Amino acid sequence: MEPKQQWGSRMGFILAAVGSAIGLGNIWRYPYVAYENGGGAFLIPYLVALLTTAIPILLMEYALGHKYRGSSPWSMMKLSKKFEWLGWFQVLLSFIIVTYYMVIIGWAASYAYYSLGLQWGTDTQSFFLNDYLGLSDSVWSFGGIEWKVFIPVLLLWIITYWVMRRGVRKGIELASRILLPMLVIMMLMITFRAITLEGASTGLNVLFTPNFAKMMEPGVWVAAYGQVFFSLSIGFATMISYASYLNKKEDLSNSGFIAAFANSGFEFLASIAVFGALGFLATQQNVPVEEVVDKGILLAFSVFPEIINSFPGLNALFGFMFFGALVFAGFTSAVSLIEPSVLALQNKLNLSRKAAINWICGVAFLISSMYTFKNGLNILDIVDHFVNNYGILLGSLLQIIVIGWVFKQLKPLQQHINSVSDVRVGSWWIIMLKYVSPIMLTIILASYIREEAT
Ligand code: PHE
Repeated sequence: MEPKQQWGSRMGFILAAVGSAIGLGNIWRYPYVAYENGGGAFLIPYLVALLTTAIPILLMEYALGHKYRGSSPWSMMKLSKKFEWLGWFQVLLSFIIVTYYMVIIGWAASYAYYSLGLQWGTDTQSFFLNDYLGLSDSVWSFGGIEWKVFIPVLLLWIITYWVMRRGVRKGIELASRILLPMLVIMMLMITFRAITLEGASTGLNVLFTPNFAKMMEPGVWVAAYGQVFFSLSIGFATMISYASYLNKKEDLSNSGFIAAFANSGFEFLASIAVFGALGFLATQQNVPVEEVVDKGILLAFSVFPEIINSFPGLNALFGFMFFGALVFAGFTSAVSLIEPSVLALQNKLNLSRKAAINWICGVAFLISSMYTFKNGLNILDIVDHFVNNYGILLGSLLQIIVIGWVFKQLKPLQQHINSVSDVRVGSWWIIMLKYVSPIMLTIILASYIREEAT
């Protein structure tokens, strides 16, 4: 049997965990989700989700991985064979996500290149949809492969494969050590530039002005929970797998708090940059900010190029930095989306790491290519909606019920965390996971499903 993979140090683990958390979710997803769901008022469900559910689940995942030293299905199986499938469900979600996640990183890589010559021209939306993605109106017609999209995706898969094969410490950890500091520096420069642009404050007003009426909509709560889970990489078996590579005696709770706060901090930084820049664009075009934001998923790839076009100087550099930041942030998250499937397959079939990586990367790459056909965007949007609104919340709800109620494992897990950590977790942790989180998740999911059904 090959030796168990391990992080080089606790710092290495934290960097990898933060690298996983900080990703497209923070730069590309958070700003438009927050905007669509009440702007400033989104912060309330966001913080509620973070403090009452996400951080407790994060610590639970660390404890599960660290205690049972395997993937999510493995640790569920240790509790009972009957619930192994729940672990597989989470593994499946992370696998589904990485197939399209990589495609978006591919778009960002293309756009980093295009930004050097501002190749998107003046009609940036039509460039993205028609020239780049080759979209037409029918959802299911695959109109042939788009090479411009396919090639970067292929390259990214090759690099990912190479990093995975180098192993947890020399691959994933090293990639995070290199990319994360560069990413933070780039984002700080972008944010500083963005908030000093003319009109930036009008954009920030839109981001921070609360629309309280929106908070009564169940959809807003589902979106906030979905965003927090996605952004913190919880409910996807990722953190369980990562924690299984930690030394036997290694602090868990402290690492969890660091990862959670670093992730949210970066999320706010990125959203300030994005909205500052949007305020600038709106001022240039003499329109209200709402009009330029209202593009959802297109924000990064149609509105941002427009902003870069009208930048007061160094357009190419800032364009390159913005899209480069997306690539860097996305890459360390993408590897963390593959790791759960690799480890789960290894645990289950007793495969070598090499064989598991070959299979997972091979199949994921093939599915990924599907999105690089014309019309890939439509499918991507539908899949994202289902995975991130229902899949992830439902999976986590079931998991905390099984762990907290069926097997009454919260106390032993708490003892496990406290036996290795400096910061002890108190009974608040158990109260959140046993009562508050399941009740909240049930209510918001049920009211959301009812609303979508009518
Ligand atoms: N957290 C990553 C992001 O914000 C995405 C991700 C989700 C990574 C789940 C791993 C597991 O983009």
